[in-house]
Amino acid sequence: MKKRANFNSKLGIVLASAGSAVGLGNVWRFPTEVGTGGGAAFILVYVLCVVVLGLPLMVSEFIIGRHTHKNTADAYRQLAPRSGWILQGYLGVFTAWFILCYYGVVAGWTMKYLVEALVGGLGNITDSAAYFTSFSGAVWEPLIYMLVVMLMCHIVIYRGVQAGIERSSKLMMPMLLLIIAMLVVFSFSMPGSREGLRFLLYPDFSKLTSSVVLSAMGQAFFSLSLAMGCLCTYASYFTDDAKLIKTAGSVALIDTIVAIMSGFIIFPAVFSVEAVAPDAGPGLVFITLPHVFKIAFGGLPLLGWFFSVMFYLLLLLAALTSMFSLHEPPTAFLIEHFNISRRSATAVVTLVCVAVGVLCSLSFGVLADFKGLFGLTFFDFFDFVSAKIFLPVGGIIISIFVGWRLDREIIVAQLTNHGSLRVPSWLISAFVFLLRWIIPLAVGGIFIKELGLIG
Ligand code: PHE
Repeated sequence: MKKRANFNSKLGIVLASAGSAVGLGNVWRFPTEVGTGGGAAFILVYVLCVVVLGLPLMVSEFIIGRHTHKNTADAYRQLAPRSGWILQGYLGVFTAWFILCYYGVVAGWTMKYLVEALVGGLGNITDSAAYFTSFSGAVWEPLIYMLVVMLMCHIVIYRGVQAGIERSSKLMMPMLLLIIAMLVVFSFSMPGSREGLRFLLYPDFSKLTSSVVLSAMGQAFFSLSLAMGCLCTYASYFTDDAKLIKTAGSVALIDTIVAIMSGFIIFPAVFSVEAVAPDAGPGLVFITLPHVFKIAFGGLPLLGWFFSVMFYLLLLLAALTSMFSLHEPPTAFLIEHFNISRRSATAVVTLVCVAVGVLCSLSFGVLADFKGLFGLTFFDFFDFVSAKIFLPVGGIIISIFVGWRLDREIIVAQLTNHGSLRVPSWLISAFVFLLRWIIPLAVGGIFIKELGLIG
């Protein structure tokens, strides 16, 4: 049998997984959630969710992936043959595939804005909302950008685990972190940054309603790329000496730092422009920010140019590394399950994503009135089904599976690297307790809330 690929180094493992986690969710979604959720009060709850809910789930996915060294679908088949749990493996593969279909569209937009920023076009926009609507509603331009971004992702995945995913993550993640640091410094030096900072750091506990707490959980979940086979698939390429708890801790830390830093960058911007609701959706970074860049750097065109180029480059890097992790689960599944070449598997995944992506992209224009999928456009349907249904369901199933069904020996062997690491037994018990009781209940809460069954 051909030897299965693996990541080459511990750094590669952390950076690839962090690349998956750090995405569009960190850069635009987190700051807006903070804004509506009471500033630092939200951040506190968010961090709690990451630690109590996110970390155990991430470690669970790592255990399943590394123990089996298989794609997500076959991993569950191996662990629980001939049982309903197998469905979870398929669910993970398809959720990733689903998300990639529309994530590619938004990633294409970031590419367009990067190009526009580079050629100085952003500075000439008079009405950024109208500009965005006309761009995203057009037929060809967004499609071409989506194709370009999908192709970039395709090439990386085609090149494989080490030469593709690991190598590009090792290049792109340090770049991303550097840009973030630079932008934070810039943003702090802007007039009015104090205000934004105060907003971010002032804990307004009166805004902490139950629905805000549930949003924090949902955000932690999405931002850490949990429950969709991505981290489980990456973990199947982990080496035997990788420390699972430590890796999960590093990934969660990087993800949270990037999210908070993005808040420091975006905050003064988003809230300085009136008439744009902070929860305006993915359009926010494409509508509010160009406008803000223009105003903020009115007299300093070069600085404005640099700031905007760096910002959209940051978004593109974040989106691309997340796309790799969405592409790999279905690709690995097709390769291993159907015994086909990486080349064919990558092509099938990309082609399906492009085909569905076309429909998603057009749903901002010519297909905007097509609401045949439960009253939703194609884009909204894919977003809704994957993020709001498959994700929480997957999270609940994974926690119950690892908490109740998986052999304790496998858990201990994976967490201690077969006895060579010392992990206190109370930590392992706490881990299992959270998986058995707390996470299913908490995630169940998100699920019911997101479906709109409670207020
Ligand atoms: N975690 C990514 C983000 O914050 C989104 C993502 C979800 C990426 C699932 C991969 C898998 O944007």
